[in-house]
Amino acid sequence: MKVREVYIKTFGCQMNEHDSEKILGILFSKGFIETDDPKKADIIIFNTCAIREKAEQKFLSNLGKVKFYKIKNPKIKVIVAGCSAQIQGKNLIHKMPFIDYIIGPDNIDKIEKIVEESLDKRILLEENANIHLLSLPILRKDRVKAWVNIIYGCNNFCTYCVVPYTRGKERSRPANMILEEIKHLSEKGYKEVTLLGQNVNSYRDGEIDFPILLQRINLIQGIERIRFVTSHPKDLSENLIKTMRDSPKICEHIHLPLQSGSDKILKLMNRKYTFNEYFDKVSLLRENIPNISITTDIIVGFPQETDEDFEKTINALKKSQFDGIFAFKFSPRPKAPASNYRGQVDEYTKSERLTEVLRLQDEITEKNNKIYQDTVQEILVEERTEEGVIGRTRSNKIVKIKSNLELGQLVKVKISKTYRHSLEGEILQ
Ligand code: SAH
Ligand code: SF4
Ligand code: F3S
Repeated sequence: MKVREVYIKTFGCQMNEHDSEKILGILFSKGFIETDDPKKADIIIFNTCAIREKAEQKFLSNLGKVKFYKIKNPKIKVIVAGCSAQIQGKNLIHKMPFIDYIIGPDNIDKIEKIVEESLDKRILLEENANIHLLSLPILRKDRVKAWVNIIYGCNNFCTYCVVPYTRGKERSRPANMILEEIKHLSEKGYKEVTLLGQNVNSYRDGEIDFPILLQRINLIQGIERIRFVTSHPKDLSENLIKTMRDSPKICEHIHLPLQSGSDKILKLMNRKYTFNEYFDKVSLLRENIPNISITTDIIVGFPQETDEDFEKTINALKKSQFDGIFAFKFSPRPKAPASNYRGQVDEYTKSERLTEVLRLQDEITEKNNKIYQDTVQEILVEERTEEGVIGRTRSNKIVKIKSNLELGQLVKVKISKTYRHSLEGEILQ
């Protein structure tokens, strides 16, 4: 019998990338192999994102092409998974009847039944309260770094955001499962773990909160670096900062999404902090962990954002001196209350504000990278290229090294050149 092949395309965040590793894990355990040619595949999967309209458009244009593969070969099964599948549901099948299955993020375990053809439903969107208790097989392609889920869903309901409606209620994975998985990863030679959750700070399994979980992971031999995304500023505790300071394996980097510098807008966003409260946490982080790099997310053009509010975001960026940002134009999303707020900002103003934010941050990022010139950094080698290797500093800066190092090696490097988006280094003998 011919080996069955799967083509999978993933959109969106690390959580979705990791879900795709699980989908592939299930399929490989059923004898599938992966192909990068959708025309050859027995199953085509789109693991989709709904965070902004653009993300959805990208997937819809990809899906359009699949219709023709399906006409040529009606046996191909087309599966739409992920956040856009969850939010659009049966509308998608109405619009595109060639889709065979729609499965939301809580139902990826059902892939097994789909390939066994033992499922009588085409639309799988119901809440699966126990997804965090399952141990699904995972096909990780990276040999050095691994993603590990610690918390599913989100209870925060920021008014612009679709995620609480696509990934459901917050559920923490049992600590013993997480620790077992990481021990296993270390035995397989992994050096770095990134703990995943929409808000890792609200992790809790009985007495074990996020700092305690980190302290336990810090004791696992073989793992050299611990990272996590994402931290909601309102839940970033002093205890977590001290744990970061005192646990040698936790890297000196935090992604701490600010969203806006205006307290009025933060309130409309339901973020539950003011800029001053946010900045106090930034200061506490820097006091305790002097070399920490801090990155953030910014939304421009949220409803009712005036020039004055926007100026506050600009001032917040100047004051905070982030190492990097992701900036987005506000995009109205289904179910997100802000989509119906009065005072929607026009597209032209959003574009102008985005350009200004990016221009300012480019200067700041470049200046912050210059500080690395001639410093000695520990680099974990993550990738080999024709010119040498690429790795990261503990602060998450990309460093290129002309050398023949092995993947997974930790080396001391002197930074010889700095650019806006990367650094260059030479190995210290
Ligand atoms: N749970 C994480 C990630 C959320 S999505 C967190 O809370 O940070 C990543 C980023 O996308 C958000 O931080 C926000 O800046 C942006 N985003 C979310 N919804 C958006 C929308 N409707 N329009 C524009 N940007 C959005
Ligand atoms: Fe969305 Fe806010 Fe939850 Fe992040 S914390 S996933 S931005 S609702
Ligand atoms: Fe991630 Fe996009 Fe869903 S950012 S959580 S895949 S909406």
